[in-house]
Amino acid sequence: MVKICCIGAGYVGGPTMAMIALKCPDIQVVVVDIAVPRINAWNSDNLPIFEPGLDEVVKACRGKNLFFSADVERHVADADILFVSVNTPTKTQGLGAGKAADLTYWESAARMIADVSKTDKIVVEKSTVPVKTAEAIEKILNVNHNGIKFQILSNPEFLAEGTAIEDLKCPDRVLIGGRETPEGKKAIQALKDVYARWVPEDRIITMNLWSAELSKLAANAILAQRISSINAMSALCEATGADVTQVAHAVGKDSRVGSRFLNASVGYGGSCFQKDILNLVYICECNGLTEVANYWKQVVHINDYQKARFVKRVVSSMFNTVSGKKIAILGFAFKKDTGDTREAAAIDVCHGLLGDNAKLSIYDPQVAESQILKDLSMNKFDWDHPLHLQQYMDPSEISKSVSVVSDAYEATKGAHGVCILTEWDEFKELDYKRIYDGMHKPAFIFDGRNVIDVDALRKIGFITYSIGKPLDPWVKDLPAAPPS
Ligand code: NAD
Ligand code: UDX
Repeated sequence: MVKICCIGAGYVGGPTMAMIALKCPDIQVVVVDIAVPRINAWNSDNLPIFEPGLDEVVKACRGKNLFFSADVERHVADADILFVSVNTPTKTQGLGAGKAADLTYWESAARMIADVSKTDKIVVEKSTVPVKTAEAIEKILNVNHNGIKFQILSNPEFLAEGTAIEDLKCPDRVLIGGRETPEGKKAIQALKDVYARWVPEDRIITMNLWSAELSKLAANAILAQRISSINAMSALCEATGADVTQVAHAVGKDSRVGSRFLNASVGYGGSCFQKDILNLVYICECNGLTEVANYWKQVVHINDYQKARFVKRVVSSMFNTVSGKKIAILGFAFKKDTGDTREAAAIDVCHGLLGDNAKLSIYDPQVAESQILKDLSMNKFDWDHPLHLQQYMDPSEISKSVSVVSDAYEATKGAHGVCILTEWDEFKELDYKRIYDGMHKPAFIFDGRNVIDVDALRKIGFITYSIGKPLDPWVKDLPAAPPS
């Protein structure tokens, strides 16, 4: 029986390994992690992450050929193929702070592999890493080899949260990069044989290690660039009376462009886009490619601008002050169908409103109060580092101005304004007349995800703002907020 072990039981390691176990009943898959509570959760009825369809896949194989364990070294020593899916956050200090990927967790995993291995292994980079990481990993493993042979492969993951199970079942492509030596080719074939159980062969692409590593950064940068492009257009739409949804539809109909990933929003979030572009920027700078670095920086800059622009709209529309006013925040996750809040646009928008002394009442169907308070009191980039390295504001300060409630009606009761920051389906179905009746007048609604029916809400009496849509005359006539 082939034995697979995955180091890192997170958003990628857990679902990806569960899918391999489901599709390959003859392979034993063990997912290991140093975070014991996370492993306990994977072994319980309450999985540590919310992902549609994940429970069913895990329950179908857990205890048969899928196992979760905190006994990291034992399972690493036993494995034939080792996936490494640990976090690769943005560095918060030292050289490249705020841009470069922090490979501390990767390196410590590699050193542990070198220490405990007694048999030859294929080591697969599943984490998103800077191009040329495999070279460093090879050096670490081969200097400490004890006669054991390691082959390094790059097999970046393209799943998106909220659709991870579908993405894993029917991937657009699986990328495998490896050395072009006979041993490298043999390792590529071994990993290809695993995916070939359910992925059509023409979707399994093999290439050299550096192309595979860079393709992942390139894919995320180009996806984020599409969002920043349409978000930049949304600002121009608001200034001119064009409607960004109509513009996106027209542009996306061109088969060379395609219609997906052109939804204007309050800004992209998630653990990947910003981190990976900053990492790309840093790699470009290190290679002396200043113009290229500046080009990609602009994608992040527009995203920050979009979040700041949203806050300005809220404050300027509400008579240039939100001080002491209750504002309902509907949605805190970085997108629908996930409880993940990493780099969620809601965090920056809430900080902006709190900076203007608003009182926030927050509701999200999947995010717990403790997580929201933690996110709002933590420094930027700290979320992906171990607890002892995270720096917090005093959470009691945050809770003076923030309450977290269990439904949208409670959040909006007595509010002056509502901000929709995640596109949860349930926000399309709300009884907005009931919400309007319970609010202070004039009642404002700011839709950062274009989920509301603007005309219907205006008929109810709301003053509405929707990203990139023709402005409500009330919003338009107000003086612009001073630049921050
Ligand atoms: P995560 O933080 O959810 O999971 C990483 C896990 O690795 C954590 O549970 C951590 O405890 C564990 N870990 C760290 N060091 C370890 C060690 N030495 N030994 C054992 N366990 C260790 O992260 P994630 O979202 O799963 O992302 C993992 C990687 O995949 C990152 O490089 C990310 O960029 C990439 N990625 C993420 C997504 C996504 O949607 N989240 C998609 C594609 C790629
Ligand atoms: C992304 C990539 O899509 C995935 O391939 C990679 O493996 C990990 O990073 P993820 O961050 O999970 O996945 O979700 P994604 O669907 O890409 O959304 C990212 C952010 O962009 C979300 O905040 C989403 O709301 C936003 N978004 C997406 C838009 O604002 N407009 C769009 O048209 C699409």
